[in-house]
This record gives sequence, structure tokens and C-alpha cells, in this order.
Amino acid sequence: MKIGVFDSGVGGLTVFKYLEEVLPSYDYVYLGDNLRAPYGGRDDQTIYEFTRQAVDYLFKKENCQLIILACNTASASALRRLQQEYLPTLNDPHKRILGIIIPIAEAVPRLSKRGKIALIGTKATVKAESYDEEIAKAWGAVRPTEKMYLYKEAAPLFVPLVEEGLLKNRATKFLARQYLRPLKKHRPDTLLLACTHYPLLADLLAGIMGKSCRTILPGPIVAESLAEYLQRHTEIDELLSKGGSRRFLCTAPPQAFNNLSSRFLGYGVAAEQVLVG
Ligand code: DGL
Repeated sequence: MKIGVFDSGVGGLTVFKYLEEVLPSYDYVYLGDNLRAPYGGRDDQTIYEFTRQAVDYLFKKENCQLIILACNTASASALRRLQQEYLPTLNDPHKRILGIIIPIAEAVPRLSKRGKIALIGTKATVKAESYDEEIAKAWGAVRPTEKMYLYKEAAPLFVPLVEEGLLKNRATKFLARQYLRPLKKHRPDTLLLACTHYPLLADLLAGIMGKSCRTILPGPIVAESLAEYLQRHTEIDELLSKGGSRRFLCTAPPQAFNNLSSRFLGYGVAAEQVLVG
């Protein structure tokens, strides 16, 4: 049985890249719903429905045992409902859907020097307040005597620009300066990239924030957290096949997906276009 990795598009590859590095022997299937991306401007019900269709496809058609929602938007808007309402319908107590917000939030107290955290994400992630709650919880547990401030901004146009591969375009640079300006005013020590598409713009964003601000990438944190999870849950690990295979699926014609993912992963990706939902 495989590990499924899901995102609305190419963004989840910034998590997948580290999963491959940390846990190379597993069999993976990546699904990007790029036909319907971006998800971040949609309402909770639509994000839930699209994500449910995607995970259903991965469980039923691709034989996945465990799925990582490598998407902050889906993790913030749909994860809890998927675990409570959808998973029980599969009648298999060993199927798992894991989100990425809790492991990232738990890393913040360790990574932020002064507790001044700037977060950029999609509109849905910023609105959902999952990060506010989880970071506050994690901070309180580790550094209870120190104050913590979270400043958030939505950066909705980054996702379509990244999907188009416009990583170094003038429009992308202009927007990056606009989106980060209100955050920079607070002089944060940490920039949390709370959308898996944004690490593809990490150098640009880090350059704008300056040397005194550290960028947190979701990928390495999520990969380490899955490795620990599989060590703790040997009953799930035993069900996962370890043939080292990789399979890439997307819902739009795959040319743009293939170009960007091949460049980013450093090997040729030939995704198959599939119909989900
Ligand atoms: N990559 C996704 C995230 O982490 C979402 C992008 C979108 O479709 O808006 O939030």
C-alpha cells in the first residue's frame, strides 16, 4: 500500500521532495488537483468537497494506506471533517489522513528567536485560524513565560503565478514586495510559509524580509514528523509497501506540471492526467 501526497497543484511537491529524501524506500503517489486550483479563495464546503474527492481517489483507485494533505488550505479547512465524517465510511481502521499544520506549528517555538512570527498563506488558511490556535498552544507548552506575536497576510496571487511557473517574473517580485510590506513593519524574526506553493519563491521572499528574518519551510518539518509518526505507529508502517516507486497524477493537462516538477525535483516527471470527482 502506498503513501498518497495531495495538494491543489504543484505546491505539495515542496513537501514531497523532503518525504523522498527522509523516507526514500516507500511507494508514493502524488496527486495535484491543478484543474481546480487555486483552492485558497474558495469556501470551506467547496474545499472540503474537492479534497474529499481527491483523497477518495487516492484510497480507492491508487491503493493508498495513508495520505498526507501537503496543502495548508485543505489541512485548515477540511482535515477535521474528513477524519470525522469521511474516514469512517471506508470501514478500515488503518486508513489515515494526516495534515501539516500541527507539526509546523509545533516547530515554531524551537525556530523563532524572539516570538515575532509573520505568516503568509492563502485566504482560506489565514481565515481559518488553525495556525493561531496551534502555534499559541505549542508556544505555551514550550516557552510559557515569553510573549508571542503572530502577524498574518494572505498572498492569494502567488498560487496561480507558481502554477504557471512564473517564479522569477517581474509581476511576482512586485507582488511579493506588496504582500510582505505590512508584515515587515512588525520586524518579525520568522517568516512562516503557510502555503506549500510558497517555498518555490523562498529565495525571493527571504531576500525581501532580510537577513534578520528566518524562513520556515513546511517540507523538512513534515517529512521529519512523518518519519516519527511511522516509528510510533508500526501497525501502519507494516502496511506500507517499500518498493521505492513514484507516480504523479494531475487533473489538468500535465505539461506545465511536468515542466515545473521536473525542474524542482531534478528528474523527469511524466504525470498522468486523471479525472477526480
Ligand atoms: N498549496 C496550497 C496550500 O498549502 C494551496 C494553494 C491553493 O490552491 O490556493 O495552501
